[in-house]
Amino acid sequence: MCGVVGAILRDQPALEGILDGLRVLEYRGYDSAGVAAALPEGVAIRRRAGRIEALRAALEDAALEDAALEDGALSEARCGVGHTRWATHGPPNELNAHPHSDQSGRIALVHNGIVENHQELRRELEEQGVEFRSDTDTEVIVHLIARELERLEGESGEAALADGVREALKLVEGYYAIAVLRAGPEPELVAARQGPPLCICVNEVGAWLASDVLALLPHSREVVYLEDGDVARLAPSHYEVFRPDGERVERSPEEIEWRAEDAGMAGFSHHMQKEIHEQPAVLGRTVAARVGDGDADLGSGWSDSELAKLERVQVLGCGTALHAGLIAQFLIEGLAGLPTDSDYASEFRYRSPRLVPGTLALAISQSGETADTLAALRLAKELGCHTGAICNVPGSSLVREADSVLLTDAGPEIGVASTKAFTAQVAGAYLAAVRLGRARGEIDALGADTLLEALRGVRAGLEVVLGDETVALVKEVARSNQDAKGFLFLGRGVNYPVALEGALKLKEISYVHAEGYPAGEMKHGPIALIEPGMSVLVVNSEGGVAEKVRSNLEQVKARGGRVIVVGSDEESLALADERIPVPATSEWVSPILNVVPLQLFAYEIGLLKGCDIDKPRNLAKSVTVE
Ligand code: G6P
Repeated sequence: MCGVVGAILRDQPALEGILDGLRVLEYRGYDSAGVAAALPEGVAIRRRAGRIEALRAALEDAALEDAALEDGALSEARCGVGHTRWATHGPPNELNAHPHSDQSGRIALVHNGIVENHQELRRELEEQGVEFRSDTDTEVIVHLIARELERLEGESGEAALADGVREALKLVEGYYAIAVLRAGPEPELVAARQGPPLCICVNEVGAWLASDVLALLPHSREVVYLEDGDVARLAPSHYEVFRPDGERVERSPEEIEWRAEDAGMAGFSHHMQKEIHEQPAVLGRTVAARVGDGDADLGSGWSDSELAKLERVQVLGCGTALHAGLIAQFLIEGLAGLPTDSDYASEFRYRSPRLVPGTLALAISQSGETADTLAALRLAKELGCHTGAICNVPGSSLVREADSVLLTDAGPEIGVASTKAFTAQVAGAYLAAVRLGRARGEIDALGADTLLEALRGVRAGLEVVLGDETVALVKEVARSNQDAKGFLFLGRGVNYPVALEGALKLKEISYVHAEGYPAGEMKHGPIALIEPGMSVLVVNSEGGVAEKVRSNLEQVKARGGRVIVVGSDEESLALADERIPVPATSEWVSPILNVVPLQLFAYEIGLLKGCDIDKPRNLAKSVTVE
């Protein structure tokens, strides 16, 4: 998704730091990039389709977009903004790339989000003589700001950029995180937020802003999160925040525990590989902090008084997070005895959901910024639900808005394909199920201890699954299946969402067609696909449905499909053409172990096919628009 950075520094050039910030945000997914710098004469802008390296090369070229300005001046500018664009309105070319500037060439703007009434605003501005230069929805904002500033200046002689931005945003419908600069002898930098995240920090060098806290970590670990409706004015030594009516408000910095080096590669070839291998440590951390005596200790937002009143749970999420949500459904029903549904957040929000009083709306999200998940949670809140979140990013919108929050402690996840966040979400759901079960009297202290012990034991299992032997085995299986016509992933019960997740990982990383299916449903359609050349990955661990899965597996074999078994069910492993054994564990926690070989499998196939593992095509790490 689009990335926004900006800086206004005391006495050193801003551009290099802005480019570094953009590089940190690359993981979010983008297809063009650009920067603008405030010079005394006006704004200087450079934009390029493609990667940041293309932009960097452009910055080294001779000609500036505004030929009157010197290249040297651009790299010397103390105030600038930068952007990585993930195209929504108009193709990813240079003209549509941000920043966009007003007609006077004094104001430049970068934007993450969507202007819903852009057509209407564009018509109005065109009638007033504005000539648009891009297909984007964003461009209307910069022209509106210029117009509103002119109006304010007409009324009172001069106007601060922040006031022009506030006035312009009153006319904008939609979602935005914007950074705006105005060139001049004293450059101005303003940030505003409605929806997508935006944070700022100030250090001895100057003030910085970014749409993702990771881009600020090299500058400070004391970060201010803007709230919806905030407009902030940044100066080299301080910042001020205003509400839409102009009232000034205090926004205090929060200390971020993540370190800049957590987002590094630590000797691995890819972030995805590193994050897969981090899972034992992540699980250890997530669990250790939350295992109490005879209960899961999730903190004050999860007290008996609220939880005992609950009648139902509605789980919400998107992508991988929803797969963790489907597992959460099994866990909460199975362990805590609470009726539970799960739904795609994007469907839930548009289907007039009927939620009974006493429903816990539980949103699961790595980033805490997914637009559909946030909208679904807000809708559930409006409908009177108690809201909960299992989320990985402290300070994210979801964490700030939910009544009860469980932070997963996976650390920054940079690989677009989610791996460690998924297993941490499943562990989080398990802990929440134990807490709910205790609060409702479904689980006693002894029962909770037994359940928590099983979860604690998963770390050792993960170490086995990530040991050299299993990794080598997965590599071999990937090699022998790389040319398969297609892939079907099957699982049942609590491991059926693992099959969905295995197929999703493979699609995301290697662009091959893969389907995940509940094993029992295979005979109702997908069985027609089975023939020699079709690889079928069957997830099966010991437990209530193991025998059923075994018979599904036999049906695949009978039709010539190539069967690869992942799991601990010995009989299934014996029947398979190829096998990846996983240590035996309680059925309830088995998804955490079973998914890992599937993550590795997707990674290896992606490598064999020469795909860009950490930046898969068309995907964004965090989808902050609909
Ligand atoms: C995007 C990512 C997926 C992720 C989904 C939900 O589609 O590419 O990997 O699972 O968003 O993201 P969230 O941050 O809410 O977990």
